[in-house]
Amino acid sequence: MSRPQGLRAANDVSAPNDLEPFWMPFTANRAFKARPRMVARSKGMFYYTPEGKPVMDGSAGLWCCNAGHNRDPIVAAIQKQAAELDFAPTFQFAHPAAFQAASRIADLAPGDLDHVFFANSGSEADDTALKIALAYWNVTGQGQRTRMIGRERGYHGVGFGGISVGGIVNNRKFFGSLLAGVDHLPHTYNRSEQAFSRGEPDWGAHLADDLERIVALHDASTIAAVIVEPMAGSTGALPPPKGYLKRLRELCDRFGILLIFDEVITGFGRTGFAFAAERYGVVPDMIAFAKGVTSGTVPMSGVIVRKGIYDAFMKGPDHAIEFFHGYTYSAHPLACAAAVATLDVYRDEGLFERARSLEDVWADAMFSVKGLPNVLDIRTLGLVGAVDLASRPDAVGQRGFEAMDRAFHEHGLMFRATGDTLALSPPLIVTEDQIGEIADKLGKVIRAVA
Ligand SMILES: Cc1ncc(COP(=O)(O)O)c(C=O)c1O
Repeated sequence: MSRPQGLRAANDVSAPNDLEPFWMPFTANRAFKARPRMVARSKGMFYYTPEGKPVMDGSAGLWCCNAGHNRDPIVAAIQKQAAELDFAPTFQFAHPAAFQAASRIADLAPGDLDHVFFANSGSEADDTALKIALAYWNVTGQGQRTRMIGRERGYHGVGFGGISVGGIVNNRKFFGSLLAGVDHLPHTYNRSEQAFSRGEPDWGAHLADDLERIVALHDASTIAAVIVEPMAGSTGALPPPKGYLKRLRELCDRFGILLIFDEVITGFGRTGFAFAAERYGVVPDMIAFAKGVTSGTVPMSGVIVRKGIYDAFMKGPDHAIEFFHGYTYSAHPLACAAAVATLDVYRDEGLFERARSLEDVWADAMFSVKGLPNVLDIRTLGLVGAVDLASRPDAVGQRGFEAMDRAFHEHGLMFRATGDTLALSPPLIVTEDQIGEIADKLGKVIRAVA
């Protein structure tokens, strides 16, 4: 097999000369290696290719860099921490920044969500939340509550727990043999009822009532938790129907089922609030977070739990470990320093409020591509936008892939393509002019792939 060569000398890490050894995640490896979309540097709203060409970041990296790139206070905090304390175990020992980060994150969460368990990725956060739910029922004398309820089109990462409750067919098709003890709510998207809604669609709150059917089938006493993304992100940015999440909360309360919000994407300002839970006035029992907590700079994730859940574990002999779970890098010093500095930037620059105030400008910009060839639907929420394009006959995903590739190479814009859906979620520092530029480039790309 030929080994595609990169662009510069072997010792230039910004442009490697051998693209083959890296098996890229969630990537069409052969297509990438034939025509790489490589970035070597970043600042503010931009990436830069190894040749120095700017690429506007229309996706906050991978929905993470909410504060923009290479922000000085965050970079400085990470550098300082690295020079001071490189690593410290958080099993039976700890370091001050871990407690500081937990307090700051808990302060942002609604209601009595006030304890934070740290992990490193969204997938780990989701698996941790599911394990807390199982263990919670064990320690409170209802160990028969083991069933998890997810939702079609849900994405909860790639761990076995996450793919079990997730509703992404490829995850289930390739790795599904271990999945058991789960059921799924219907997804909330219906194009004929909701097409071209701005924000939360009017239609669909009743879909939460399907939980009653699931309870009637399995009995509430066997169900541990319901897990949903407030806005399904990875399967095309599907804002929740008006009233849907409130209804789900009411039903979970009625049946004594824990409600977990996966806010890996919606957390840290993406919907104009610290968490989508706040936007919807719904207090879940747990919030899984990741990505924006450090603006993507150092891997960090976690689960925020309600006081009653934490308290339920705090019994038994003093020397005994109350919850048998954790990761070597839970609350890594660099991640904690990055988180605290990032939350300072969000607060000092009012970035969550900024996202909220730009919501209409952003929605107008996204809707400017309505009427262009193949545009079947446009959805917006906070600083999220998604455009569904019609698939090419017998080539589902090809038009979306080509749009993403052309946007990068020909128009200097980065966004995500999920099948034939184009998903945009710029850093929250985006200006009105830049929003206009993103929409302009998006329109050009959509015309180019007609
Ligand atoms: C809602 C949601 N949950 C979990 C994950 C998984 O996160 P990670 O890739 O950090 O494991 C993602 C990633 O995009 C996500 O969007």
